[in-house]
Amino acid sequence: EAAEKAGFEHFMMKEIHEQPKVVQDTLNSVLKDGRIDLAEVGLAEDEIKDISQIYIVACGSAYHVGMAAQYVIEDMARIPVRVELASEFRYRNPILDPHALAIVISQSGETADSLAALRLCKDHGIRTLAIVNVVGSSIAREADNVFYTLAGPEISVATTKAYSTQMMASYVLAIQFALVREQITEEQYTGYIKELQTLPEKIQRIIDDKERIQWFASKQANAHDTFFVGRGIDYAISMEGSLKMKEVSYIHSEAYAAGELKHGTISLIEDGTLVIGVLTQPDLYEKTVSNMVECKSRGAYLMGMTTFGNYNIEDTADFTVYIPKTDPYFATSLAVIPLQLLGYYVSVAKGLDVDKPRNLAKSVTVE
Ligand code: G6P
Repeated sequence: EAAEKAGFEHFMMKEIHEQPKVVQDTLNSVLKDGRIDLAEVGLAEDEIKDISQIYIVACGSAYHVGMAAQYVIEDMARIPVRVELASEFRYRNPILDPHALAIVISQSGETADSLAALRLCKDHGIRTLAIVNVVGSSIAREADNVFYTLAGPEISVATTKAYSTQMMASYVLAIQFALVREQITEEQYTGYIKELQTLPEKIQRIIDDKERIQWFASKQANAHDTFFVGRGIDYAISMEGSLKMKEVSYIHSEAYAAGELKHGTISLIEDGTLVIGVLTQPDLYEKTVSNMVECKSRGAYLMGMTTFGNYNIEDTADFTVYIPKTDPYFATSLAVIPLQLLGYYVSVAKGLDVDKPRNLAKSVTVE
């Protein structure tokens, strides 16, 4: 096992470090002469033009990928998107549009509820596209189209690199859909692809700075509650950050759409409660900062994560994390990295079994 960990203390840390490479590999697998080529996935242009709406169905972190993808696809390609938890979707007799595309996202390709949701869509005659990591898995075999993520085997129960490759697959689909449906110009198209190509190096830069997160994490080991807040894509990032925190560190954690704070959660803020604000979206920055100020005035201890350049966050936050600049559409891929590191380091500081958290399984094949 020590050899498999390649010098890292845990699989989770090894897999965090693999992200630049696997994100690059996943992107390269669908690029041909600098353009997106979905021939292997099997989606033709006229089929993309015919999509009336998209249902993204998944569980766990894959569902959080869907949440972030929803914002990107709707805004960039102007196709209506609904994101659904597979375990809810399948039991509520959904009204399905035969011209819709169902996208099922799954690392293992074996999650029982996701597989059942896929079958339900197929029974309704809806075209299905799976974003899957494990070749030949049940979901990969049964879906009409498959976009393979090239994360390689993921051992740590808490996903990191599979999530990042699923995000990359989602961006590629959004950009291609947007071009085919004439929602973006040729110039925007090549600009977005160029930006995607910078993500691996930017992810690497964040990982290289991990000691700063380690230091902060060591001070949070005794925390009882954490709240992650953000709006739009930053809310989707918050959901994944919060899940990482609770699954490996056993600290109670919730993600909140920042605007919802005052509808309940703010009553839970006490002296020293850790509130993490995610602020990667320029047009939502001020709004979320004002929500953080409200938390602070009730005693919260604030961490703020934003893009380099937004240094005035230091007027509000007690601890700040900066991520490299990118197009706001793609910020999820960068912002998730410090949050993975935070969950990891808090878990290690508490002496927990970070790769195999209690009560959790890597692949959930029961319903
Ligand atoms: C389990 C794993 C999660 C994963 C979820 C969905 O809960 O611990 O990391 O996100 O299942 O799994 P899938 O294989 O369908 O992506």
